Amino acid sequence: MERSLYELRPSCRWLGCRLDVYHEVDSTNRVAERLARAGAPEGTLVLADAQTSGRGRMGRSFYSPGGHSLYFSVLLRPRMAPEHLHRHIFVAALAVAESVEAALPSSVPVEIKWPNDVLLAGRKTSGINLPVQLEGQRVTSAVLGVGINVNLPEHAFPAELRPIATSLLIAGGRSLDRVSFAEGLLAKLEAGIERLRQDGFGPVLERWRKYFRMQGQRVRVGGPGMPREVEGIVEGVDAEGALIVRSDRSRERILAGDVTLLKREA
Ligand code: BTN
Repeated sequence: MERSLYELRPSCRWLGCRLDVYHEVDSTNRVAERLARAGAPEGTLVLADAQTSGRGRMGRSFYSPGGHSLYFSVLLRPRMAPEHLHRHIFVAALAVAESVEAALPSSVPVEIKWPNDVLLAGRKTSGINLPVQLEGQRVTSAVLGVGINVNLPEHAFPAELRPIATSLLIAGGRSLDRVSFAEGLLAKLEAGIERLRQDGFGPVLERWRKYFRMQGQRVRVGGPGMPREVEGIVEGVDAEGALIVRSDRSRERILAGDVTLLKREA
């Protein structure tokens, strides 16, 4: 039988030092941001069974029904320049990809769509975001939000999400204990953040690349952070994690954007 989310005990040093578990909230990110403003310590973890207004990247919403999935936010207080904060997104995507890979049969390929969507058979199974709170140029806190479709059956997705979203249950054919999965993931996440702080971004990116298979893929990239839409072929990812896209006219270096996968080149 599945353990209750209230039984979650992260075996971490600082991540989860304070843990708030809810049956339902509007958004765990919102709760964590509120706690950040009230002075909560780094590592504060907010987890909910369901979210009524789950927030995605680029102002989108994140579908967050109860009973099947994991939605959590980790409060960080990084001593890092704002332009390097996105590195946490790569750390989190790597932790999710490694945890998903360990939980599924080896026949299921796990892929990361730049920068942080974990895909199974081309469909998204998790989303990550990192809203940042600044005072001038100083980072006061950042909230790492992670949502994973663990045991969602196909019929539980709204029709418009079915072609593009999936879950570990759908891909792996069996349901998982969400609490054990979360405990393993949180340990990887803490270790990854510590590695980032001690050894820099290089080792994280090197491991992240194992799951990156977009080279040669035709993509369209747009979104609020981009002056114009770019369409072209993915060349790779550079040492700072920027996506390099070659179009007919230019070679673009993209630090933040919304990527649509188009037809793969032969
Ligand atoms: C995306 O794919 O657009 C990012 C989705 C991030 C969703 C998670 S779920 C937990 C946390 N709380 C939120 O409101 N959003 C993040």
